[in-house]
Amino acid sequence: MSVADQARAWFHARMDEHQHRHRLYGRAAGKPLSRRQQGLVEDLLPKLAIPETAKAALVPGIIFGAMARQTWLEIGFGGGEHLAGQAGLHPDVGFIGAEPFIDGVAKLLTAIEERKLSNVRVRRGDARDLVAQFADQSIDRAFILFPDPWPKTRHRKRRLMQPDFVAELARVLKTGAGLRFATDWADYANRALADVLRDGRFEWTSMRADDWRSPPADHVTTRYQEKRLGDCAPVFLDFVRR
Ligand SMILES: C[S@@+](CC[C@H](N)C(=O)[O-])C[C@H]1O[C@@H](n2cnc3c(N)ncnc32)[C@H](O)[C@@H]1O
Repeated sequence: MSVADQARAWFHARMDEHQHRHRLYGRAAGKPLSRRQQGLVEDLLPKLAIPETAKAALVPGIIFGAMARQTWLEIGFGGGEHLAGQAGLHPDVGFIGAEPFIDGVAKLLTAIEERKLSNVRVRRGDARDLVAQFADQSIDRAFILFPDPWPKTRHRKRRLMQPDFVAELARVLKTGAGLRFATDWADYANRALADVLRDGRFEWTSMRADDWRSPPADHVTTRYQEKRLGDCAPVFLDFVRR
């Protein structure tokens, strides 16, 4: 095969990869942003955005430097209620949030400005691309709270929590780091629990039913949690990376 043919084959393979990779979220934009939100997206977001780096190269702690003793990650932060809430409660922790939906990002930026939070950084986009950038053992805590449930059987492959992503989380979380997964869809809770335990690198900290049935003491309520759209009461699964 000529060099040009090889290049063409490589390009088509990448395109196929790109097209076949499932988008896990629906719309990335909703109703138009207010003037204030638009201003924040234009001026504040570029200052807080996590730069795109080579795969598995970014040590997020470096972004925060001496101001943060740990780095916590929230995946799919929605309107940012939990992220901004936790960032306010823990000013000595650096927070990174990933969310593709611009309305949610704009809401988080509004909270960051109003509460004068200096310990939050943002990736507008797919959390899987962000996590792939992180160096091994570089995150102290991760939250996945009420991710899109994709309840229909044929759509389950679109769920964020899949064995491959669990393996990526295990790669980037430090030994002793916490992983919190919450959902109000029974099937998602069961499958996520099975996938995380099957990975073998996490321990489920639950000792009794109340541990997963009640919101943990350090939880901040999210918008989706309040909507109660699922088929069961909220389930909170806390794991520790071995
Ligand atoms: C059901 S909402 C929950 C939002 C928030 N965690 C809450 O509890 O209110 C799920 C969120 O995950 C986001 N999301 C979906 N796929 C994602 C991905 N691959 N990376 C980052 N966020 C994603 C969606 O845009 C949406 O905001």
